[in-house]
Amino acid sequence: MTDRYAVFGQPIGHSKSPRIHQFFAGQTGQQLSYTAEEVAPEQFVGSVKAFFAQGGLGLNCTVPLKELAFAFADTKTIRAQRAKAVNTLKLEADGSVLGDNTDGCGLVTDLLDNHAFNLKGSRILLLGAGGASRGIIAPLLGYSPQTVVIANRTVEKAVELAAEFQDIGVISGCGYADLGGQAFDIILNATSASLSGELPPLPQGVLATQGVCYDLAYGDQPTAFVRWGGENGAAHSLDGLGMLVEQAAAAFYLWRGVRPSTHALIELLNAERGMS
Ligand code: ATR
Repeated sequence: MTDRYAVFGQPIGHSKSPRIHQFFAGQTGQQLSYTAEEVAPEQFVGSVKAFFAQGGLGLNCTVPLKELAFAFADTKTIRAQRAKAVNTLKLEADGSVLGDNTDGCGLVTDLLDNHAFNLKGSRILLLGAGGASRGIIAPLLGYSPQTVVIANRTVEKAVELAAEFQDIGVISGCGYADLGGQAFDIILNATSASLSGELPPLPQGVLATQGVCYDLAYGDQPTAFVRWGGENGAAHSLDGLGMLVEQAAAAFYLWRGVRPSTHALIELLNAERGMS
């Protein structure tokens, strides 16, 4: 029987994950199937149990299921514990389910390896204080930036989130209006605003000269935040397609013990959407 993997989420119709994992499987000579399944939060536990009971070996969980996947996993990697969210479940040989979070390492791999950006000593601004932000903070702090500032519409959420990571780096939380007079080398958009074409209210001058903009969201057209970066003098303004491929590669490695190469796939997906 073919080894079975899947991504659960809602909505899931436009997921690129089946294509990405099939590409990795072909490239590394692995036999597996990978499907995308629409799963509502209230169906999550039943669907996951059924999947593993019927021979499934690994799952990706995406919005809005990452916190539920965290609660479901029997054991969690340290990075998943830090993120309090799980995007990858793996059935272990003893029948238990391991939860991991590969989002943060996907992001830093894209930033460092694919784009050669420098995080050490950099001033990073993180927009948004929801689940997407939570998953990437510890991996970012692991590369010793000078500072990470979290800005959020609901200020208390930014302050509380920053407090959770105080032990591992220089990090603070604030509102958008508090950003005036500060400049950042890297601005990461982890709000869901972009998806509806909206932007957080960013003051003039918040992006340093030669600064970089990166939207964790991605699309077939440049997102509102990617466009903002272009209009505000960013040296590079990118979306999260590379992060998507890299988090998938890290999940594939966890499941299969083989590390796929990502560059050809990123190039292919970019070419298909007319971006280079
Ligand atoms: P996710 O898990 O994708 O991060 P989430 O937990 O719902 O989703 O968080 C969404 C984030 O986007 C939050 O930081 C939210 O700000 P609030 O905490 O103030 O709600 C932010 N967000 C969503 N729409 C926004 C908008 N139009 N402008 C600014 N921030 C927005």
